[in-house]
Amino acid sequence: MNLGWDTEHLSAVDRHHLWHPFTQQLAWCEEEPLIIVSATGATLTDSRGRSYIDGNSSIWTNIHGHSHPRIVDAVSRQITTLDHTSFLGTTHPKAIELAERLVGLLPGTSITRVFFSDNGSTAVEVALKMSLQYWQLRGNPERTRFASFSGAYHGDTAGAASLGGIGIFFDRFSGMHFPVERFSDMAELASFGHPEQLAAVIIEPLIQGSAGMRLWPDGMLRRLRDFCDRMGILLILDEVMTGFGRTGTMFACQREEIAPDILCLAKGLTGGILPLAATLVTEEIYNAFLGTHEEQKTFYYGHSYTANPPACAAALANLDLFTEEKSLENLQPKIKHLTTCLESLRSLRWVAEIRQCGFIAGIEVMRDPVTRTPFAWQQLTGARICKAARKHGLLTRPILDTLVLMPPLCTTQEQIKQSVAALRSAIREICED
Ligand SMILES: Cc1ncc(COP(=O)(O)O)c(C=O)c1O
Repeated sequence: MNLGWDTEHLSAVDRHHLWHPFTQQLAWCEEEPLIIVSATGATLTDSRGRSYIDGNSSIWTNIHGHSHPRIVDAVSRQITTLDHTSFLGTTHPKAIELAERLVGLLPGTSITRVFFSDNGSTAVEVALKMSLQYWQLRGNPERTRFASFSGAYHGDTAGAASLGGIGIFFDRFSGMHFPVERFSDMAELASFGHPEQLAAVIIEPLIQGSAGMRLWPDGMLRRLRDFCDRMGILLILDEVMTGFGRTGTMFACQREEIAPDILCLAKGLTGGILPLAATLVTEEIYNAFLGTHEEQKTFYYGHSYTANPPACAAALANLDLFTEEKSLENLQPKIKHLTTCLESLRSLRWVAEIRQCGFIAGIEVMRDPVTRTPFAWQQLTGARICKAARKHGLLTRPILDTLVLMPPLCTTQEQIKQSVAALRSAIREICED
């Protein structure tokens, strides 16, 4: 079906003028790019009229489906009323309401304050700078180091990148990074000799996304909370990926009934429609920054689009939809259905591991799972499988040879089945070669 798009022209201009993230442009320019022109529900459509299930929620952002009329309407109304205004020196109703609603999602915790920014990386950047300044203001300037975990990914701005545990992304810049101690697990962290130097520990709770959808052991988060309490270290939870229902509860930390000192949110905050992030903190942290002008305790941080009103309106509509569409209740049978469908992949001889946390799944393929022999990395097996899956109506991206399946929460049971079937066909097609 031709939707009236000039695919050849758009491709040529893309190749001439664009530079895509996390992309080797030499390879990109050798192929026709996939040009997505419209989206609705869990489905994306390209310029040649082909449709795909959005298997990775458009890089882990979409929650209730694309162009959800409820969110579109909220954004449209907001844009025609107040498009944007500075958050330095003024405030506005949507940000005020959203802050109250976000804090209200964490009842029984000490989280009371919301600091807005633009994306997951800046949500983390804020958390880091706040932690460092908090300890300086509290009279503990020796707490200058951060603890993070091997395989961690917390974003690409310099501070957030300091925490990252994925060498290929971050090693090149390691000389310019914040001081970070990296641990492979809780036991290693607990045996660290200088906990008094740690400002904060940061973790992707329950599951590490960019590490390849790797699950933490049950109870680990609670043990980490205990450790931080005993050592007086701040606990930062990066729920940029896990927030807003992905793991089956609104936030992953609620699965282990713990609360952080600092919570980072982005991606799904607006339902995946506009960029917005929030760093939530306790009143105790906030109080440390209070003082007269002369005391110089102010948190000097901010961006031009902080608390952008249409983005805040989208976030409010996103939260409303959780109630109106009973998203979390409706998700529970879908999580079970996803588990059942994924089981069918185990019969494929290349499927080494299926890791699932709520509505997030990673399917790892290997040349020989019995001997744990991977495919040669140069073969780009995961990428080729995902490319092949497009022909079967699924669009997703791998992390090396782990295929990611985490569609929007609105995905139907039938679409879940189709997505897994698409992966199955694609795995066979590529791995049998
Ligand atoms: C856990 C986590 N933190 C932070 C980020 C960075 O978010 P952004 O890409 O919006 O900067 C990501 C992105 O994938 C993430 O998965």
